[in-house]
Amino acid sequence: MRKNIVAGNWKMNNDLAETQELLSKLKLQMVKEPEATVMVAPSFTNLYPTFQALKDTPVIVAAQNMHESEKGAYTGEVSASMLKSIGINTVIIGHSERRAYFNETNDILAKKVQTAIDNEMKVIFCFGEELDDRRSNKHFDLVETQLKESLFQLPQSAWSKIILAYEPVWAIGTGETASPEQAQEMHKHVRDLLNKNVGKEVAENTSILYGGSVKPNNAKEIFAKEDVDGGLIGGASLNAVDFVAIVNSF
Ligand code: PGA
Repeated sequence: MRKNIVAGNWKMNNDLAETQELLSKLKLQMVKEPEATVMVAPSFTNLYPTFQALKDTPVIVAAQNMHESEKGAYTGEVSASMLKSIGINTVIIGHSERRAYFNETNDILAKKVQTAIDNEMKVIFCFGEELDDRRSNKHFDLVETQLKESLFQLPQSAWSKIILAYEPVWAIGTGETASPEQAQEMHKHVRDLLNKNVGKEVAENTSILYGGSVKPNNAKEIFAKEDVDGGLIGGASLNAVDFVAIVNSF
């Protein structure tokens, strides 16, 4: 059975004091047993304090990125084992901002995913088209290439560790969302691709999240679609009331 998941991507927002404030608000708002698996992804410097603050709650703390190498001379980078050593077992890989601003190609992302799997970590793998791709009707093919080049080489057994997040780039931080129908159409396409390339069981059991301007007023409609299993939330996850309202949208 695939899970409903709502994950907050805090991106490069909030220093330590602001993170602690958000965490206390979150703890106040959140019901003890939410309908969805809840995750939050703070910046590297706030990972450990967030992990400590949430360890008596069901909320899972994820990293926003990690390096593909196990260790070595990569100044400024963070490895899987460093994350694991502070209790972090989940990592976002392939966010469109990493692809666009840090030149992360499908090939590099394949390596990052492999390293995460080798370290028994869970991966939230992001993919999605830009506006031009959609306008020229290339969005289905583009998504297929992203998944093929970064994920379809994985053995079946690795798929229990993979959560997918479809994030059309034109909907991220823009206030413009894909319509629930557009989200469903792409999620169905992705599930069909999984069925064809990996197998029926994986297709049925992999959670596919939607990301891109999800807010309390549109979450319910989007999450109600058959192949949408939750959301990856940027802006609205920085506000505890909004984020919890989205978590409660199932
Ligand atoms: P947004 O970001 O909710 O602010 O559009 C989503 C994301 O980047 O994951």
